[in-house]
Order: sequence, then structure tokens, then C-alpha cells
Amino acid sequence: MKIAVVTGAARGIGFEIARRLTKDGYRLVLVDVDPRVGDSAASIDATPVKADIADPEGRAQIRSAIRSEEGQPTLLVNNAGITRDALIGDMTEPNFRLVNRINLGATFELTSELADEIVDGGAVVNISSRAYLGNVGQFNYAISKGGVVGLTRSLALSHAPRLRVNAVAPGFIATDMTDAVPARVRDRIISRIPLQRPGRPIDIAEAVAWLGSDQAAYVTGQVLPCCGGRSHG
Ligand SMILES: NC(=O)c1ccc[n+]([C@@H]2O[C@H](COP(=O)([O-])OP(=O)(O)OC[C@H]3O[C@@H](n4cnc5c(N)ncnc54)[C@H](O)[C@@H]3O)[C@@H](O)[C@H]2O)c1
Repeated sequence: MKIAVVTGAARGIGFEIARRLTKDGYRLVLVDVDPRVGDSAASIDATPVKADIADPEGRAQIRSAIRSEEGQPTLLVNNAGITRDALIGDMTEPNFRLVNRINLGATFELTSELADEIVDGGAVVNISSRAYLGNVGQFNYAISKGGVVGLTRSLALSHAPRLRVNAVAPGFIATDMTDAVPARVRDRIISRIPLQRPGRPIDIAEAVAWLGSDQAAYVTGQVLPCCGGRSHG
């Protein structure tokens, strides 16, 4: 049985990725700091791990949950992430550090700890963001997601040909994260999307499933924008 590990999988994009991967025959390990990960995992017959990826003990729990599955992971999806938006003058140092700590530092640490456990021919898919191209009010987030692109490309080089490593850069996707965006800002963003709608978590899940599959066997070190055509607008 193929095993996939998805972080930030209690809800939103991460949960949809996990649900989509069950259709490809994966057994899922769902990681989240939110205790609701238990119910989310139960709904798709997956293994929950309530853990903070930024905490070394949390990562030890993740490794031990993976070891108790029968077999090694084939796919790691680094999806856990947070925002703490503010304009540059209002960005506090703690919020700058926190976002980079979780989105980039913890993602790097978890990946470096798990990479050797992924089976030969396996894959890593990182969830970056279209914001890596730059976003006013998201300096911390844009920098962290740009870092995820650097991580993706570096890992693709260091682990080729054993593993493939790619990233998806979602645009504006309807989840709890974007529900927090003020309505007038949300309307402005949506009006600039060529496909004229917010993305759905399943739009991202399909891209992740493809990059993780053998159909993408010759794709590594790449960033796939999944943003309704808005990549540079
Ligand atoms: N929603 C969007 O428009 C959008 C756009 C681009 C990129 N993304 C990225 O997609 C990913 C998922 O976003 P979402 O919209 O589903 O967000 P969300 O807030 O709905 O879900 C994120 C999940 O990550 C978990 N998480 C946060 N910190 C964690 C930690 N330290 N350890 C373990 N779990 C942790 C949260 O508890 C939550 O369940 C994030 O990396 C986000 O940056 C989202």
C-alpha cells in the first residue's frame, strides 16, 4: 500500500488533498496542530497525528506515526502554513518570524528529517503560493513562500534521481485562510482573476495528485501556478 503524508490536513486545501489522494490508492497520514485532525482523518479512514511541525517533539511524533504504518511513505505533501498579514510599517518582528518559522523553517526541518524515509521513486510536493511573486501586506508570507520555492528546487537537485520534488503555487482559494480577508479586498482580488472565480481546494488537490503521480515522472524542481491565470497580474 502506498503511503502519503499531508501536513496541515485538518481542513481546507490540506484535507482536500488528502481526500483526493485516497482515490489514487494511498493510505493517508494526516498531520495538523488542530485537534480536529482526528475527525478529519476518521472521515477518510486515515491516520491522524496531532502535532506542530515547528516543534521537534511534534516532528518526532510524526516520524513515529509513519513508522507504525506498514511501509515507507511514497509522497510527502508540505501544506501546513499560516498568514499574519500587515503593511510593511505595521509588520511586527514576532509575526515576521512566526510566519517564516512555520511556512519555511519547519517545512524544511520536517522535509530534511523525512526525506531519507521516502521510498525510491517517491515525491515531495510543497505548497507555495502565488504570493511568492510579491504581495503588498504579505511581506512575511511572500518571503516564506519564495523560500519554499528555493527549498523545492534545492531538494529536487540534492535528491535527484531518487525523489522528485515540485511545488504548487495556488492563487486565491476559498478556505478559512481567505475567509479572513476583508470583503472589499476579496472582491478586488477575485475581479482580477482571468477565470473569474476563486479557486476551490479540489483545484489544488488535482495539481498535487498529478505532480505526486507517475504521470509527472519527468517533472522535478518546478513550480506549478494554480491561480486561475493570475500568476503575474
Ligand atoms: N487559501 C489560499 O488562498 C491559499 C493560497 C496560496 C497558498 N495557500 C497555502 O495553502 C496551504 C493551505 O492553506 P489553507 O487555505 O487550506 O489554510 P487553512 O488555514 O484553512 O489550513 C491550514 C492548516 O494548517 C494547519 N497548520 C498551521 N500551522 C501548523 C503547524 N505549525 N503544524 C501543523 N499544522 C499547522 C492549520 O491548523 C490548518 O488546519 C497553506 O500553506 C497556505 O499558505 C493558500
